[in-house]
Order: sequence, then structure tokens, then C-alpha cells
Amino acid sequence: MIALIVAMDRNGLIGKDNELPWHFPEDLDYFKRVTKHKKVLMGRKTYESIVDKLGKALPLRENIVLTRQRLKLEDAYVINDLPAYLRKVPEEDTLFVIGGRMVYEASLPFADRLYITHIDGAYEGDTYFPTVDFSKFEIVQKEKRPPLTFVVYERKDR
Ligand SMILES: NC(=O)c1ccc[n+]([C@@H]2O[C@H](COP(=O)([O-])OP(=O)(O)OC[C@H]3O[C@@H](n4cnc5c(N)ncnc54)[C@H](OP(=O)(O)O)[C@@H]3O)[C@@H](O)[C@H]2O)c1
Repeated sequence: MIALIVAMDRNGLIGKDNELPWHFPEDLDYFKRVTKHKKVLMGRKTYESIVDKLGKALPLRENIVLTRQRLKLEDAYVINDLPAYLRKVPEEDTLFVIGGRMVYEASLPFADRLYITHIDGAYEGDTYFPTVDFSKFEIVQKEKRPPLTFVVYERKDR
């Protein structure tokens, strides 16, 4: 199964200067809980933004980094061909796509689930989540913790 996990404000904003535009420890805890012991796939810029913050890749998860470059990373597995990789994910595994925009956009057609933290606010930034056709998804889980709402969407025609 392929799942995208993202936090966005009410305008679909997800990033600012290669960082998150906000700081919600509750959302970071949710992200940790949901993705722990799973594979997490990210774009090279998101990987760099995580390493800038933590000094290393995300712990307790298998980190996979998408790039067009020939990179060798000590703490992450590097891939160059996203569709080829996504097609090989076994149904019994869960791969979490954790951003950023470019990677969300390219993997959205493959997504079985979307874990979206909706933030009830409007922030400033430069990076937005791609447009989602929500008529193709149904809500399977929803938890309100203002100003955050944690929603899990599942593709209807899986
Ligand atoms: N709110 C959230 O939940 C959330 C989550 C994650 C990230 N973000 C934010 O999103 C922003 C970063 O997003 P971004 O779109 O600028 O960067 P990104 O998607 O993290 O990384 C872009 C890089 O990924 C590689 N890439 C992307 N598509 C590819 C493809 N089809 N094939 C091969 N390589 C590919 C390229 O790397 P090379 O240049 O090395 O070839 C590209 O420059 C930051 O502000 C970050 O904080 C927000």
C-alpha cells in the first residue's frame, strides 16, 4: 500500500524556505507514531531539510530518497525512478511518501491512502500540495484536535 502523509493549512500550503511554515509538536508526534518502523520515501530537498534539523535521516524508519543525481547516502537508500519503485511495493507493506511537493505530485496517482493533517489557519510560504480530486477518496478516520484535524482518506476504487 502506498500512503501519502502531509500537513497543510487551509490553502494547501505545506512549506516555506525548505522548512515547515509552522511548529505543531502534536503533529510531529502523530507523524512519528504513524510512520514508525515503516518505509518513508522523500525528495532530496525534504531529506536535506530533515538532516539540517536532526543531523541525520529519520530514526526507526527505512529512509528512501528520490533524486535525479547519482548520490550515495549513508543513512538512506537512494532511488532515481519513482514509478518503477512504487509499482514494486508489495500490498502487505506500507510505504509512506513524506514529501515534498514534487514527490507528492508524482506519487499521488499511485496513492491508496492520504494521511492529511488539516491546519485551521492561513500561513505564509512558497510550497503547496498538488490539487487532489477528493471525490476519488472517502474518509476512513477523522480526529479533531483544534486547530488540527487528522484525517485519513482511502481511495474508493482500490
Ligand atoms: N507540510 C508537510 O507535511 C511537508 C512534508 C514534506 C515536505 N514539506 C516541505 O516541502 C518543501 C520541499 O518540497 P520540494 O517540492 O521543494 O522538494 P522535494 O520534493 O522534497 O525534493 C525535490 C527533489 O526531489 C528529486 N525529485 C523530485 N521528483 C523527482 C522525480 N520524479 N525523479 C527523480 N527525482 C525527483 C529532485 O532531486 P535532485 O534535485 O537531487 O535531482 C528534486 O530536486 C519544503 O518546504 C518542506 O518543508 C512539507
